[in-house]
Parts: sequence; C-alpha cells; structure tokens
Amino acid sequence: MTSRRRLLAGAAVAGLGAAAGAGAVTVAAGDRDTPVPAALDTTPDTGTATVAFHGPRQAGVSEDPPAHAAFVAFTLAAGVDRRALARMLRLLSDDGRRLTQGRPALGDTDATLAVLPARLTVTFGFGPGLYRAAGLPSPVADLPAFRIDRLERRWSGGDLLLQICADDPLTVAHTQRMLIKDARPFAAIRWVQQGFRRSPGVQAPSYTQRNVLGQLDGTANPRGAAEIDPAVWHPDGSTTLVVRRVRAEIEKWDMLAVSDKENAVGRRLESGAPLSGHQERDEPDFTALDDSGLPAMPDFAHVTRAHVTDPALKILRRPYNYDGVPDAAGRPDAGLIFAAYQRDIARQYVPIQQRLADKDLLNEWITPIGSAVFAIPPGCADGGWIGEQVLA
Ligand code: HEM
Repeated sequence: MTSRRRLLAGAAVAGLGAAAGAGAVTVAAGDRDTPVPAALDTTPDTGTATVAFHGPRQAGVSEDPPAHAAFVAFTLAAGVDRRALARMLRLLSDDGRRLTQGRPALGDTDATLAVLPARLTVTFGFGPGLYRAAGLPSPVADLPAFRIDRLERRWSGGDLLLQICADDPLTVAHTQRMLIKDARPFAAIRWVQQGFRRSPGVQAPSYTQRNVLGQLDGTANPRGAAEIDPAVWHPDGSTTLVVRRVRAEIEKWDMLAVSDKENAVGRRLESGAPLSGHQERDEPDFTALDDSGLPAMPDFAHVTRAHVTDPALKILRRPYNYDGVPDAAGRPDAGLIFAAYQRDIARQYVPIQQRLADKDLLNEWITPIGSAVFAIPPGCADGGWIGEQVLA
C-alpha cells in the first residue's frame, strides 16, 4: 500500500487538510472540507506498460481509458478503392502492431520516441464513406439530426478513424505523426480531436473520474466482461463507435448553486450518489419522492433521461475532456469528446440521444458541435491486418 506517510507528506506540502482514512485526503475548498481520492498504488511501469495489439477484438475499447487520446479522422483520396484500402490498412496495422509494443514503426523518423508505449492502443474505425469507396454496404449510418445539434463540419464525419490512446501525451503525438505519414498517400486529415483524463497515479483507478465540469463521470457505465460484452461486442469481435464533440458552457455552469448542478444531473456533485440515494453506486430510484413530495430524481435530469435498464441496451461511455485555447475574453473552449461504444447505434445510442435531445436540463450548458459514426471491425491475429475480414 502506498505509504500513508507519503500521502500525508504530500498533503502537508500541498497545504491540504488532514487525511480522511486510507487512500483519501481532504482539501479545504472554501469553507468545507472536500474528500479527495488519492492513488493507493504507485505505477512505476507506466511508461513501459503495453496492451496487446492482436486478438479477436481491437484494443482501445474495453480497457480502462488511458490518460490521453487523439481521435484522428480522415477523408479518403479520390480513387482509393478496396485494393488501395487494403494496402493502406496493412501498413497502418503494421505501425500499430509495432508502436503499441514499444517498437519503432518501419521508417520511423524518431525511433527514440517509440520505446515508451505507456499502454498505447491504436483503434481503427470505418465510416460510411470507407464502405462506399470499397463498394460494400455500410453497417453504420450518420445519426439523425437532433434539435440540440449545432454541428460544425470541422468536427464531423470521416471515412477512417484512428483512435490513439496512451498514458503519455508524447507517445500519442509520436504515434499520431507516424500514422498520419503512412496514411498520407491514401487520405487527408478531416479533423483531429485531442483529449485527456486524469494522469496515471493521480488517483486509484477504482475511483470514478471527474470531467471538466467537475462531475463524477462514468458511474453507471457497464463494468467488466459480463456487463460490457453483451452491450458492446458482436460475436465476430466488431462493435461501433459514436464520437460527439460536446462543448460545455463552463462559466455559466459555474454560476449555478451546487443544488442546481445536482438537479440538472440527478446526482450529488461531491459523492456522485443519485438524488434518491446515499452512495455513488446506489441504483437511482425513479419512484422515490423528496421531502416536498416531488420526485427525488427530477424527470428533466440527465440521468433520468439517459437511464437504460436492459443491460443489452446500455452504451459504454469512454469520454475525454478537451480544453482548448480560451477566447480573448478568457472564456474557455472546453467540453467532452464523448465517445460511446455499443453493438448497434440505432438500437442503443440513438434512443438515448433522442431522449436527451427532447428533454435534459443539462442541455442548457452543453451543445453538440461535432458528430461522427464508425464501425470498429474485429481485431486481427499476428501477421493479419485490421479490416481483413471486411476488405480482403
Ligand atoms: C458534455 C456532455 C455530457 C456530460 C457532461 C455528461 C455527464 C454525465 C454525468 C455526470 C452522468 C452521471 C454519472 C455517470 O453515470 O457517469 C452521466 C450519465 C450518463 N450519460 Fe451523460 N453526459 C454528457 C453527454 C452524454 C451523451 C451525449 C449521452 C448519450 C447520448 C450520455 C449518456 C449518459 C448515460 C447513458 C448515462 C448513465 C445513465 C444511468 O443509467 O444512470 N451523456 N452523464
């Protein structure tokens, strides 16, 4: 166990309050003490840790999300057909296989940057345009338009997606550069979205992370193979991905009282407990009434609207924060790169998004500005390449 002494020393250095039990410290925030989840274990192998590239399913979906991600979407060049796609994917799969294992890509222009993969994954997604180019029917279609959408072309669509995740931003940057270089003869960049979560070692992985709005985000996500598999993976090892760029009006959000923030989400800000319960993991009770006889979980709350009971209809959320350059007045350019995996976008994602578009108080502070859909083809065996089942 991480030495409590070290935690306390850290707390003292940082001017934090007294430690509140193992693995937690408190920090004086305003006039209150807020418990802070501390990391229990150090992670000395963060840099050299690897995730297998080969297997029946692609990596980068079921694993705990690493701290940094780049979502790189491409538009295929005119004339790129099924055979050219196969050539490109052989090349990019080879890059993925090497770089994820800490080995330089073929022709790597800076091999020294390849040696610390830090749990690097490279996940390939195929947009509807890739299937069109290959002369094949597409298993995914663009989402319907929603009332809340303010979509910008610069964050939307894409024929090919490379989702690059690692616990180190330099690893992500190097991988992104190598892959873009090898894709260049076949495809142009359509958009790149870079995002982040907490760094490894900052808090124990068992704690739910906060997003840029300060909310505990991920509480009700499916966990472990028993919950994730039926919702996410087809028996052939494929799945689908929706990427939505959702801008957050953080300065307006921050003007709200804590209770108003809690009503908008349906969960307590500090503990993440549903407003009908006490602990983060309590199941929300949508029939419970509060002291004034009103539903404890307001019907306009994000969680009430998004909740799904059938385990097979849940989605696996894997969001990353983004925080770009503020405008001249200092207003943040921040929000979520909301990435969701599910077997079937039309059956699972669209009904949730429709309910949120129809009524969700959180819409006052969040706006979808980008949208893209991708099929995630199965993984490949050693010597194979991603997409071979579709294109070979
Ligand atoms: C900036 C955008 C968003 C923010 C800040 C946000 C925030 C949250 C928070 C704080 C929770 C409660 C804790 C948890 O279970 O993770 C939650 C739950 C959830 N959200 Fe979102 N969310 C956003 C966008 C979306 C979108 C676009 C969808 C899907 C279309 C979605 C679907 C869900 C679902 C399915 C749950 C779990 C509900 C349950 O069963 O309890 N969210 N979200």
